[in-house]
Amino acid sequence: MKIFVDRKNELEELRALSQSKEPAMALLYGRRRVGKTYLLGRIWENPFYFLAADTTPETNRKDLLSELAQWAGVEILPEDYPTWRAVFRLMTRTNQGDQLVFILDEFQYLLGHKDDVISQLTAIWDREMTDSSMLLVLCGSEVATMEALQAGDSPLFGRLSWSSMLRPFDYFDSSRMLPWLGLREAMYFYGVLGGLPRYLSAVKRDEGFRESLCRILLSTRGEVHVQLQNLIAGEKGIRNTAEYDAVLRAVAAGRRELSEIASCAGLQNRAYVVRRILEVMENLDIIHRERNYGAGPKSPWRYRIGDNALLFWHRFIEPNRSRLERNMIDSVWETSIEPFLDTYMGPVFENTVRRTLLRFNAELELPVVSTCSRWEGTDRNRRSIELDIVGEFDSGEMFTGEVKWSSSPVNPDVHFQLKRNLEDLAASGQSWGNRALHGWFVYFSAAGFSEYMMRLAEERTRIVLVSLEDMFPDGGNPNRNR
Ligand SMILES: Nc1ncnc2c1ncn2[C@@H]1O[C@H](COP(=O)(O)OP(=O)(O)OP(=O)(O)O)[C@@H](O)[C@H]1O
Ligand SMILES: [Mg+2]
Repeated sequence: MKIFVDRKNELEELRALSQSKEPAMALLYGRRRVGKTYLLGRIWENPFYFLAADTTPETNRKDLLSELAQWAGVEILPEDYPTWRAVFRLMTRTNQGDQLVFILDEFQYLLGHKDDVISQLTAIWDREMTDSSMLLVLCGSEVATMEALQAGDSPLFGRLSWSSMLRPFDYFDSSRMLPWLGLREAMYFYGVLGGLPRYLSAVKRDEGFRESLCRILLSTRGEVHVQLQNLIAGEKGIRNTAEYDAVLRAVAAGRRELSEIASCAGLQNRAYVVRRILEVMENLDIIHRERNYGAGPKSPWRYRIGDNALLFWHRFIEPNRSRLERNMIDSVWETSIEPFLDTYMGPVFENTVRRTLLRFNAELELPVVSTCSRWEGTDRNRRSIELDIVGEFDSGEMFTGEVKWSSSPVNPDVHFQLKRNLEDLAASGQSWGNRALHGWFVYFSAAGFSEYMMRLAEERTRIVLVSLEDMFPDGGNPNRNR
């Protein structure tokens, strides 16, 4: 049986919508490969499903009619339905039983032509749908276009009963795609493939980490390799892919602030273009941005890659392209990837634990987290200081902490060093340093904690230790091999 992970809310809400006696229109969208079609295929027994193609409106209309004829078991002559209005009217008439669900997938392909699908749809919807209980689901992968459909100036505004953007899985749900793996191994996979279900579903049960990655990602014919190569070009709303690529490369190379990114991408005098590109990619969860903890609203944003698959691609695949093209997969793995993998995982793991704090605070017996970021800068002696996590709970109390992906247990030095850093920062004008010294300390370690560290945490109530196992509160997966 194929696994079905997460998406519980979407599934329940859409099902409820189809069971109501009212006509309803729903919008489901999200990046390519995020699992939209898979989700829609899991909710209803026998919906009408049409997958639009990137072709002319006439061809799409004819294809839809022929699928509708097959589904309803009736004869339909395309020439009788020459407009979308006529097609939608026919759909409402086919609606005789309970729970009729119509799904139009890749809906963006029906838009933007002369014959305005949306206005024809709304005309029929308003006039002829009153006594029907049909659910119409409009699904699409062109995020900006689909978002525009629910904006205030769209004719669909106010007519949509439900809308949701599907997002990639976090580390926890990603690991549920690979339930046969130990936690550390599952975390490596998440670190390399990110949270797009399609990439994770390419991993086979009987393969090891290296074997899987060589097959699906390092091989230039590999499923994930091919998809990543076309990722930017495949986002339909994006036109100038070269500029997107250059910006992505700059961020992947460690440029953090807008001006650095612009100049590294060769777009020095066009910061507004770079800002726009970053915004589009942020909307797709490809880029994340954050500010130093406590920084004012005018201080610069810091950008990073938010999709691990792309990060890995730019760090390891792109620079080894020519060897990979010549099929030297083993040598690339052994000399250019494996020795650096744990260094790569450090920051990836650090970003992952933020999600733990937000999603599993109750399981960790912590208050609700209201903000969580990091801090980097220098103290008054120009010593550089980095705090992996700094944030606040709802109660207003602060927490700080360190995150270690190392393979040896963390000992109390980490705590004493962090306190010294906070004292230094407090003395250097970062007034929150003192508050943090009286707040909580949360330490994450992929390799557990030394006995001394555990004793320290037992003695002091506000030191919380989180191991890799704690980051995976069971999750309905009791058989996982820890
Ligand atoms: N919730 C899930 N649980 C388990 N596997 C999933 C889930 N969602 C998606 N997948 C896997 O990911 C694959 C891709 O998902 P799907 O085709 O639904 O993506 P999509 O968003 O429709 O992409 P596209 O825009 O490219 O059509 C599925 O075939 C399935 O193997
Ligand atoms: Mg799809």
